[in-house]
Amino acid sequence: MIPAYIHDEAVIHPLASVGLPGDHREMDSDGAPPIEIGAGTVVREFCVIKRALAGAPSARGTTIGKDCLLMTAVHVYEGCCIGDCVEINVRATLCGYVDVMDGARIGAGAIIHPGVTIGEGALVGLGAAVIEDVPPESVVVGNPARTLRRGNATPDQLEAWEHLCRRKPIPESDIAFDMMEQS
Ligand SMILES: CC(C)(COP(=O)(O)OP(=O)(O)OC[C@H]1O[C@@H](n2cnc3c(N)ncnc32)[C@H](O)[C@@H]1OP(=O)(O)O)[C@@H](O)C(=O)NCCC(=O)NCCS
Repeated sequence: MIPAYIHDEAVIHPLASVGLPGDHREMDSDGAPPIEIGAGTVVREFCVIKRALAGAPSARGTTIGKDCLLMTAVHVYEGCCIGDCVEINVRATLCGYVDVMDGARIGAGAIIHPGVTIGEGALVGLGAAVIEDVPPESVVVGNPARTLRRGNATPDQLEAWEHLCRRKPIPESDIAFDMMEQS
């Protein structure tokens, strides 16, 4: 199976790794959907983007939307879904099955816990350890991350957000526990 579909207008810099199987002792990526990377997205050197796990509770693949920027050494683990116009700064890590909604920005060196959703237009501060969902348009900082500002989310955005949280596909325990077990 093809490990990744990369749009002609996406740019993958040399030394980035796109399409290796996800990291797991018992599950591999054979039969999991390929990675998808959209037009205008730039993936800088030493980034690592992993395929989803075939045996995971969600059948979704790892996807990155349009016009995103993944700076040097960003790691995107299995099954993460990144929207459009997302900026992820150097050495940030998205553990498995993280959702990052359109227009969100993630600061350098931040780490996002498995299964967390970063809301539309949200900003994660440099070095944050994010262990809970981040609402749209808000700013979080620190370890564990705390809300610095609520921002300007519209009622529509908040409603969409609540809906999204209700239908989260992966119970956090399913993914987080397995991943912790590996270390
Ligand atoms: C999150 C961020 C946007 C906040 O900026 P800001 O609104 O100007 O915030 P301030 O500097 O006024 O700080 C407000 C409070 O948050 C704290 N804070 C700000 N950024 C923080 C961070 N990254 N981690 C922990 N605490 C932080 C400050 O210490 C201050 O705390 P206090 O109120 O207790 O004194 C900014 O600090 C940040 O991290 N930007 C991302 C930088 C980055 O990754 N750049 C890319 C490099 S490649």
